[in-house]
Amino acid sequence: MKKTEQLYEGKAKKVFKTDDPNYVIVDYKDDATAFNGLKKGTIVGKGVVNNKVSNHMFKMLEKHGIPTHYVEELSDRETVVKSVSIVPVEVIVRNIAAGSLSKRLGIPEGTKLKSTVLEYSYKDDELGDPMINDYHVYAMGLATPEEMEKIAEYSFKVNEVMTEYLKQFGIELIDFKLEYGRCNGEIILADEISPDTCRFWDSKTGEKLDKDRFRQDLGNVEDAYQEILKRLMGE
Ligand code: C5P
Repeated sequence: MKKTEQLYEGKAKKVFKTDDPNYVIVDYKDDATAFNGLKKGTIVGKGVVNNKVSNHMFKMLEKHGIPTHYVEELSDRETVVKSVSIVPVEVIVRNIAAGSLSKRLGIPEGTKLKSTVLEYSYKDDELGDPMINDYHVYAMGLATPEEMEKIAEYSFKVNEVMTEYLKQFGIELIDFKLEYGRCNGEIILADEISPDTCRFWDSKTGEKLDKDRFRQDLGNVEDAYQEILKRLMGE
């Protein structure tokens, strides 16, 4: 498959067309942003970690019956994925209070939630990805009730499977963000699953092994990304 013109450049990835309209190539960058682009920086090696970790997770989730956009890893930073039309709804799944949930509701970081929380936000950089609910989704025509039912079902399943999977590596899954796309009329998991989009804490020490190290200037940012790669894939 041949990489052709660049389709899009986002904050953490570039997407290229290929000679087959059904597939695109994602190229993961080391650029890091936080707080809706207000904080910018570079995390050396992040692109490689996110590419490999994401592909590893997608392959594992496929085995558990979750359809994803993953096709083939081409290099350290590049992966062929199915071309999808992204549903402009970001899905956040939370097991333990942290980040914006702690801030918004005054629940101390690290508090175990009595049940899993599912949140949606409208994927729009200019508006700062505001939180919405199902009624907004239908009122704005972002997705159908059937699609949202699938999205919720898959998101809870991803949470169950990933939480269990990560335990063996001494990683606690605090929360994460998912994005879905439409491909041949079906909803499939798209975007990435990586330390950029998940909160991973060391199960024993509670050490943060994710992008919060960058957001909160905690230091050892690169080391945390490498640690996740090492634990999951022995690299
Ligand atoms: O900031 P907040 O606490 O709402 O983030 C919840 C989870 O979603 C975190 O794991 C964060 O990394 C992820 N997230 C993301 N992209 C966003 C917003 C949140 O990956 N635009």
